[in-house]
Amino acid sequence: MDRIRIVGGNELRGIIPISGAKNAALPLMIASLLTDDTLTLENVPHLADVEQLIRILGNHGADISVNGRRERQGEGYSRTVHFTSRNIVDTTAPYELVSKMRASFWVIGPLLAREGKARVSLPGGCAIGTRPVDLFIEALAALGAKIEIDGGYVEATAPEGGLIGARYTFPKVSVGATHVMMMAATLARGTTVIGNAAREPEVQDLAKCLNAMGAKISGAGTSTVTIEGVDQLSGARHRVLPDRIETGTYAMAVAMTGGDVVLEGTDAALLDTALEAIRRSGAEITSTESGIRVVRNGGGIKPVDVVTDPFPGFPTDLQAQFMGLMTKSNGISHITETIFENRFMHVQELARLGAKISLSGQTAKIEGVERLRGAPVMATDLRASVSLVIAGLAAEGETTVSRVYHLDRGFERLEEKLTRCGAVVERVSD
Ligand code: UD1
Repeated sequence: MDRIRIVGGNELRGIIPISGAKNAALPLMIASLLTDDTLTLENVPHLADVEQLIRILGNHGADISVNGRRERQGEGYSRTVHFTSRNIVDTTAPYELVSKMRASFWVIGPLLAREGKARVSLPGGCAIGTRPVDLFIEALAALGAKIEIDGGYVEATAPEGGLIGARYTFPKVSVGATHVMMMAATLARGTTVIGNAAREPEVQDLAKCLNAMGAKISGAGTSTVTIEGVDQLSGARHRVLPDRIETGTYAMAVAMTGGDVVLEGTDAALLDTALEAIRRSGAEITSTESGIRVVRNGGGIKPVDVVTDPFPGFPTDLQAQFMGLMTKSNGISHITETIFENRFMHVQELARLGAKISLSGQTAKIEGVERLRGAPVMATDLRASVSLVIAGLAAEGETTVSRVYHLDRGFERLEEKLTRCGAVVERVSD
């Protein structure tokens, strides 16, 4: 199994191209099931999760072709992928496929809306808490679907004549359930109003693409989204928005190691709250024509408290990385996780590098230390694994991160991007 070997201590200097957002690409790809026409997505990142979803969509009958020519964007690469689901050949998403990635459960929305039925295995994905599907079930039931759970599968059936527009307010904000309800409602009869909708930029990106396909959605990006159902959707061409989590991750890496890096092709407006926290830690962050510039020249890292929250709050997907940064602050900071239980698995691994962290319920207290020392550590989930890479870059000596398949799910060309900025990072195969 591959490991990542890092020799810490170098500052980062140069340009890092930011990829298309994984968390936007996945729902956009799933939206292609809503039409028999071709949906073309540009700027699709090359990631294990994307490849896995390609397999899942293929199983439903999607014909998928990746442009032979790779689009060159700065020093990075992104792909243009065409999805055509002329016919849905199977409305079942089997356990073997769905268990590997939670977001694949989201196919339930388009399958149900287009075919009137779907049978989807209960999901898997990162081991960060129980992650139930009750909100999806309630939202689809509000649209008139009959839902049964049988043998580990959710079986959903639309009423005769299709789903029916409805008003539904989520008791809790869920990104995935908002995506699914929005997709399902595009083909429902009448108007749907989603209350307490997730406001994440990826929800807005999905609505933008669905509207380009002929849907009538307004309010995406606010907590009330209105969808007027239409009879059918057509194909479209859409560019996946930049990855705000990748952006924040590299910004935190620079804030930790010091240096001067331009994050190319991204947009500060996607992650204001996180950038503000990084600024308060002592880094300078400015928007440039091509993206964002992050500079930290000398000066220590100041302690900053953060609490994770749904957008526009501090993203839970940057919590582990920010904790990495705080391990070297010159004081005491607190990080509170409010979205997922059990999302502190990186704490014990960071401790192996010399971090001083204590947990009390959902809050971590981090006492900054002057130096971290390299050590063998183990990745436990996608975002946790990259926090170990960041900490390794700022540690003295050698760090090896094992179980890097977690990283490959969400970070495109990580070693290459960091190496070009002066880091010593390499992949070692056993
Ligand atoms: C998405 C992101 C993930 C991010 C998360 C929160 C993708 C592919 N993944 O995940 O990277 O960490 O948003 O920003 O976009 N919940 C329920 N019942 C449900 C559904 C969710 O209780 O039916 C709970 C979850 O357990 C969690 C909270 O709601 O505590 C938020 O989860 P949700 O927003 O649904 O996360 P995902 O969409 O899975």
